[in-house]
Amino acid sequence: MHIMNVIIPALSFCVIAAKDGPTFLGTSTNVTVVEGRDATLTCKVENLHKYKVAWLRVDTQTILTIGPHVITKNHRVSLTRGDPQAWALTLRDARLADGGHYMCQVNTEPMITQTHNLQVLVPPDIVDSGSSEVMVRENENVTLHCSASGTPQPSITWRREDSMDIHVGLRNTSKWSGAWLNLSSVPRQMTGAFLCIATNGVPPSVSKRILLHVLCKPSARAAHKMIGGYLGDSAALLCEVEALPTPTVYWTHIDGNRLQYGAKYQASIKSQGYKHTATLKVNNVSREDIGAYYCHVENPLGIASEDITLYTLVTTSTTSATTQVDTTVEVTAVTTAHPYVELELKENEPEQFSEEDNYVVVLSQHQMQNLDLSPSS
Ligand SMILES: *[C@@H]1O[C@H](CO)[C@@H](O)[C@H](O)[C@H]1NC(C)=O
Ligand SMILES: *[C@@H]1O[C@H](CO)[C@@H](O)[C@H](O)[C@H]1NC(C)=O
Ligand SMILES: *[C@@H]1O[C@H](CO)[C@@H](O)[C@H](O)[C@H]1NC(C)=O
Ligand SMILES: *[C@@H]1O[C@H](CO)[C@@H](O)[C@H](O)[C@H]1NC(C)=O
Ligand SMILES: *[C@@H]1O[C@H](CO)[C@@H](O)[C@H](O)[C@H]1NC(C)=O
Repeated sequence: MHIMNVIIPALSFCVIAAKDGPTFLGTSTNVTVVEGRDATLTCKVENLHKYKVAWLRVDTQTILTIGPHVITKNHRVSLTRGDPQAWALTLRDARLADGGHYMCQVNTEPMITQTHNLQVLVPPDIVDSGSSEVMVRENENVTLHCSASGTPQPSITWRREDSMDIHVGLRNTSKWSGAWLNLSSVPRQMTGAFLCIATNGVPPSVSKRILLHVLCKPSARAAHKMIGGYLGDSAALLCEVEALPTPTVYWTHIDGNRLQYGAKYQASIKSQGYKHTATLKVNNVSREDIGAYYCHVENPLGIASEDITLYTLVTTSTTSATTQVDTTVEVTAVTTAHPYVELELKENEPEQFSEEDNYVVVLSQHQMQNLDLSPSS
């Protein structure tokens, strides 16, 4: 019984001593930082007494700090002591390789430790060095590929710059996810820019623009099969072309010879993607200029041609007492009195002039209104 009386106070002393020893305030933390920023891991210890707090890097078994001293030669590491209980380890300009476990350790016997985790995030970057222009023949398959780096691993989304749907697999979609965009049986309308966008929740997201050229053999179509030109004035013949690569265009008249461009004929072409408008301007229209013109279109994949008929209109102007111009329109040999002003007003009526009509015809007033007439004044 005597012995017991002695032991009990001794035990209670031990318990009190242990309770007064160093203990951590707060728990382990997961700290997330974006690459290039500063990261701080904080360890709080109370009742430190004579003991020392050290920071270690677990993965490399490196001692970073002991007490108030920075041990590592890594000049990006520093220790901040604001609060007397806080031991804040700061890593300036965090790098991906800095990610991992850091241990806060107190040299008690046995030692006590607390492990903190640092995660370094890296915004996405497109690492693909693939071509930004891709060519495919119409109705063939093509695969676009994009890959990105970043932490966490970025996801890739594809979309069209013009927001057009993408036909992939068996569906039409405005967005497609995945590094591969496998397009099958590509139509010419798919010519255009695709964007591959990489995101991983760490701003900024990045994108790469890939221009797809769907090569197709030429097709040609007259904007208007028949064009009326006023005698002495000029007339424009428009040939709507689809072809990629951009075709060469030449024009012929009845004799089949290529027209020589100059004061009489001027040719031009305007292109956008696979669509082109070839224009032949016939100046100083005379009766000898009537008849069929052909636009011939050629690219490495093929040829096409289309005919457009030019007929003449005669204008005779007389100036009245008021400054209004009174114009008479004559179609080939047939004279139809018609006020010019009214023609212009009704030019945009929706009904289409039939393409089957021959040019040597008497045009009704209604048909007249729908002709592609260029005003002479
Ligand atoms: C830290 O993250 C790990 C897993 O990454 C998780 O198990 C742990 O609970 C997290 N701790 C805190 C304090 O959020
Ligand atoms: C996808 O769109 C094209 C034209 O835009 C259409 O011809 C086709 O039927 C559509 N397919 C599906 C599965 O919706
Ligand atoms: C897309 O094409 C790539 C390369 O040709 C191939 O590895 C991949 O399996 C294809 N994916 C699908 C869904 O067909
Ligand atoms: C193109 O893709 C379709 C469907 O993905 C496949 O059936 C066809 O065999 C492919 N054609 C070529 C030439 O690879
Ligand atoms: C227009 O053509 C006629 C012959 O059809 C010619 O006499 C006249 O000089 C030409 N005018 C111009 C401006 O070239």
